[in-house]
Formats: sequence, structure tokens, C-alpha cells
Amino acid sequence: MIKKILLLGMLLALVGVGVAFLLINALLTVARGGALFTEQNLLYGALVFFGAATAMYLGFAVTGIDFAPSAVAHVRRNLSRQELRAEVLEADVLGWQPEAPFDAVYEQTCLCALPEEAWPDYAARLYGWLRPAGSLFALFMQTGQPGGPPRHCDLLRMRRIFDEDRWHWPESEPMLVPHRNGRFELGYVLKRR
Ligand SMILES: C[S@@+](CC[C@H](N)C(=O)[O-])C[C@H]1O[C@@H](n2cnc3c(N)ncnc32)[C@H](O)[C@@H]1O
Repeated sequence: MIKKILLLGMLLALVGVGVAFLLINALLTVARGGALFTEQNLLYGALVFFGAATAMYLGFAVTGIDFAPSAVAHVRRNLSRQELRAEVLEADVLGWQPEAPFDAVYEQTCLCALPEEAWPDYAARLYGWLRPAGSLFALFMQTGQPGGPPRHCDLLRMRRIFDEDRWHWPESEPMLVPHRNGRFELGYVLKRR
């Protein structure tokens, strides 16, 4: 309920911005000796209003994947509790293929749950799931130990698997995501070439 009120509030704010834009543009036109309700003024206002309203109303289309029925049920319950919409699929990431490529993929502790032999295949799949210039939000698990899961995702190895020919690595420092058990993840936004 609170989310809906917030969304409505933001929608109204965007409508306000659209109207303000129209008014400023109209005043400038009038100041230049033109008329107030020109086609151009109305078009600007309408574009800002409908663009913002559509983006706010539609949000993002989100798909989540896990092959464990309990994990899928847990996420679906959480989504419904928070009145959020997303498609949550029970599927194997090593076999599944989207109908259309995504703008972005968020990979958190799925890679480190897979057997290491499957990492190159998984990386190739992630590449295939994304559109060119799409973003991979990757959190690489750092356990500093052999074995697992979760398995240690050594960064040099990650750079070989998510290779420069296919992925652009940022120059900036990774994001540090600490865990309570002393492990941590290193976050990078890789761009698919
Ligand atoms: C450590 S959990 C992470 C769950 C979630 N991403 C998170 O961060 O809370 C790893 C998950 O990967 C799932 N998983 C492991 N191998 C998979 C595969 N081949 N296909 C789909 N899901 C898989 C497991 O069922 C498990 O829920």
C-alpha cells in the first residue's frame, strides 16, 4: 500500500515536471513574441508527461531463475508479500534460454554454486542472454578456500572466463559486499561487447 502511494506520489511529481516544462517552454515562446499554445509547446509537454508516466507505470520486466522449487516458492512468496511483479522460473541456468535478450543480468552467488567445470558454459550463456552493450551485475564470491559451494571465484580466473573479447571490465574498484561469516563478494558491472 505504502509503495503504491509512493509510486503515485512520484507519478504526480513527474506530471508536475512535465507541466513545468511545458509552462517554461511556453513562456519562452511568448517572450520571443510567439503564441502560448503552439503545436511545439503541446508536443513537448505531452512527450514529457507520457514518457515519464509510462516508465513509472511499467517499471522493469524482471525474470528470476532457480532450479530449486523451494527457492522459487520463497521468492514468489516474498514478491507477493511486497506487492511486486516478476516472472520466477524453475529452470536450470545451464539449459535455459530466454525468448529475447535482457538489458541486464544480476548474478549473485549462482556462479559459485555451480561446479567449476560448468563456469565457462555459464559465462557463455550469460553472454547469450544479454543484448549487445547489456550489463552483467556480477558479485564474485571470495571465500579464500578450496572447495564449496560456495566456491571461491578467483578474480584472475574470472577475467579469463569473462574474457576481454566478450566483456568490458570497468577500471574502477569493485564494490565490496561483506558477509557476516567473514566471506565477502566483489561486485563488478561488466558490459557485454
Ligand atoms: C547460494 S544460493 C543463492 C540464491 C540467491 N541468488 C541469493 O543470492 O540469495 C545458490 C542458488 O543457486 C541455485 N542453483 C544452483 N545451481 C543451479 C542451476 N544449475 N540452475 C539454477 N539454479 C541453480 C540453487 O538452487 C541456489 O538457490
